[in-house]
Order: sequence, then structure tokens, then C-alpha cells
Amino acid sequence: MARILITSGPTRQYLDPVRYITNASSGRMGACLVAAAIERGHDVVVVSGPVDVRYDTRATVHRVTTTDEMLSVVRRQFAECDGLVGVAAPCDYRPLRVEDHKIAKTGQPLVLHLVETPDIVATMGSEKGDRWVVGFALETEDHRFRAITKLQKKSCDLIVLNEPQAMDSATNQVEVLDGLGNVVLACSGSKEDVAARLFELFESRLIH
Ligand code: C5P
Repeated sequence: MARILITSGPTRQYLDPVRYITNASSGRMGACLVAAAIERGHDVVVVSGPVDVRYDTRATVHRVTTTDEMLSVVRRQFAECDGLVGVAAPCDYRPLRVEDHKIAKTGQPLVLHLVETPDIVATMGSEKGDRWVVGFALETEDHRFRAITKLQKKSCDLIVLNEPQAMDSATNQVEVLDGLGNVVLACSGSKEDVAARLFELFESRLIH
């Protein structure tokens, strides 16, 4: 049995009190991974952005809004965990400035100045010690090459490659790559089935 941290869902970066940047992540794959891990007897801590999906009530869920908040909660929780599954889709950019009041229309183009947010999986990968980290990669071209590059840059033990069609969908098609670039699992189906297959693999390769 392991204590597993799962990041899930999108994050949100506000421009002003009512507008924000986000993405189409639904948190469904995260919720299915949470359920699969719990069914297999693991303790699960979830750090989730704003989503409508429900997480298994046996998981401890921490809700966050921004990528920086997600990082700070993940960093605190990872200290107590054996491994991290980073299935969240955190915003990679945030507005340099968040306006105190709703931005008014001027009839002119609005130029947004965005700065990069921290990469949660890469940060935890660099601090993992003897814990393990699994990343996800959603690619539209050079799929395996880009996924393996991400695995290396983010110090992941495994990376799960999925297609953009997975976003906000009930099904998923994945390949899992290891640090040598080997495809160690390929499967498709409902997110529930894919999550169960993924956890079988994590148990055989990562969880002692
Ligand atoms: O670079 P990209 O966003 O494609 O990488 C995806 C992987 O990195 C996922 O595991 C995702 O959860 C993680 N990630 C992160 N923090 C970010 C961006 C991505 O943890 N700011």
C-alpha cells in the first residue's frame, strides 16, 4: 500500500475579478485514477483545480485555483507521500498583473502580458529523492519524442502520452513510456478502464 498524491483538473488564472484563463481539462481522468488507486488499497491525496467531477469520498481532496497555489499545496503534501501522479493541466501562463476592477472595453485591442507559471511535476521531479513521479503529456505532433523529452526534463519515472481528444472526453487512448523510451503499456477504452490498467502498471514498476 502506498500514499499517492494526484494532481487533477485545470487551474485558473484571473485577469480581473470576473475573467480568467483556463483550459478544457475536466478532471475526469484524475477522478478515475483516484478511484482506481483507492480500489487497489492505496491512500490518496488529491490536489485539484476547479472541476465539476466528484472525487471518491475516501480521498483527501485539496481544492486550489491557480498554478502557484497548486504547487504550494502539492509541495506540502508530497512530503508525506510515496509518489506523485501529475494528471492536472495547470495553466502554463498567468497575467503579469491582475486588475482590481473589471477591465473596461476601450474599442482598442487589449494586449495581455503573460508570464510563465512554475511547472509542478518538474519541480517535484527535481525534489523527489527516492519517491516516484509520473507525468502526463498531451501532444499533437512528434508524440513519443516530445513525451520522452518531457519525461527527462521533468525527472519523471514514467510518462503517460495521451491525445488531445482525451480532454473532456469519457474515453482515452494512452501509451506509457519509460526513461529508456520503451513503450511499456498501450491501451484504450473508458477512462475507468485506462486508469485501472495504469495503476496495475504503476504497482508493478513503482510501488514496492
Ligand atoms: O508540458 P506539459 O504541460 O505538456 O506537461 C504535462 C505534464 O506536466 C503533466 O503531467 C502536467 O500535470 C504537468 N504540468 C505541471 N505544471 C505545469 C504544467 C504541466 O505539473 N505548470
